[in-house]
Amino acid sequence: MTSAPRIAIVGAGLVGGYLGGCLHGHARVTLVCRERVAAMLASTGIAVSGGAGPTRRIAPPELDIALDVSGAAQADLVLVTAKSTATASIARALESVLEPEAVVVSFQNGMRNAAWLRERLPRNAVLAGTVPFNVASPSPGMFRRGEFGELMVEDAPALAPFVPVFAAAGVALARRGDITAVQWAKLLVNLVNPVNALGDLPLRAQLADRTWRRCLALALREALAVYRAAGIRPARITPMPMRWLPIVLELPDALFARAAGTMLSMDPQARTSMSEDLRAGRRTEIDDLNGEVVALAASRGVRAPVNARLVELVHAAEQHARRYTGPELLGDLRGAGSAAIASSTSVPGSAR
Ligand SMILES: NC(=O)c1ccc[n+]([C@@H]2O[C@H](COP(=O)([O-])OP(=O)(O)OC[C@H]3O[C@@H](n4cnc5c(N)ncnc54)[C@H](OP(=O)(O)O)[C@@H]3O)[C@@H](O)[C@H]2O)c1
Repeated sequence: MTSAPRIAIVGAGLVGGYLGGCLHGHARVTLVCRERVAAMLASTGIAVSGGAGPTRRIAPPELDIALDVSGAAQADLVLVTAKSTATASIARALESVLEPEAVVVSFQNGMRNAAWLRERLPRNAVLAGTVPFNVASPSPGMFRRGEFGELMVEDAPALAPFVPVFAAAGVALARRGDITAVQWAKLLVNLVNPVNALGDLPLRAQLADRTWRRCLALALREALAVYRAAGIRPARITPMPMRWLPIVLELPDALFARAAGTMLSMDPQARTSMSEDLRAGRRTEIDDLNGEVVALAASRGVRAPVNARLVELVHAAEQHARRYTGPELLGDLRGAGSAAIASSTSVPGSAR
């Protein structure tokens, strides 16, 4: 590749808008997005902030925006940044568009996106990736990166030409030989999504409250027990080992703030993307997050009643916008856990 690579970002929303804003100028970026997003960006342009550098602004005329995946036809690299619920249809659409040399990276949560893309794009190098930080949009066209952490991508020779481009753009790629273990770890981090979405509160306020943290601890403890049953060892991607987290989450508020202050150092308005989806009346990724824990449990002949209940509640909230108080949700999840213990096939030690 002699000139700047062409990078298509398919499903440009929060993650895609942020990455597009960072990569613009370092690569020839095309944003493949919905009409409503295109109309917004055509009026606001993009501003990206957070991470190490100052706010970076790209004026509307500088943006290359496409309304369908034909915008990815010439791409050297395609970043898929839509929700997992859109991956299968994006994979189908890309099938007739991509050059065989194009490299595809899934920057999505969930365990199955890269496999869905590979199935439809057998000629392309398809790599799994993870975005460890949160991206918020405090105003139209503004994409603010929250917590720190590096993008992580499955290591492969095909990635090499793009590594310096991402580094120059301030979004360095950590090349991982253990991406599946990284994804299992990220799945644990994402278990906060339904708790946040059902509470409909900013995440920081929620994590400052022990009742909400106990809801998360129930889901996390159960998922860790399922992982043990399945022989899965998640990678270490957080400052604190995940196995300590349920205990730390259950500490009284003041002790929690001391033991895990970095968890409270996020943007006070930030919410999880599942919370944004429920608020906007969109389908959520719940089946690919807590649903994955439930499926894994089932594959090992055990149950994950707390995560199964969270899946049920989020699907119900997708239909009728029910929101919970902390005590309501905690009571409901404890009830689900106890009922499973009574029927005695849940993972030993998972429901407390
Ligand atoms: N947001 C975060 O802070 C964050 C952090 C880490 C990881 N993640 C993960 O990153 C992924 C992306 O999350 P996000 O929050 O950036 O999602 P998002 O804001 O919903 O952006 C995705 C965008 O892609 C659009 N889209 C879907 N199919 C498309 C298609 N065929 N063509 C063009 N546009 C299409 C969606 O439109 P519709 O809504 O109309 O479908 C939406 O505008 C998810 O897996 C999420 O879990 C998010």
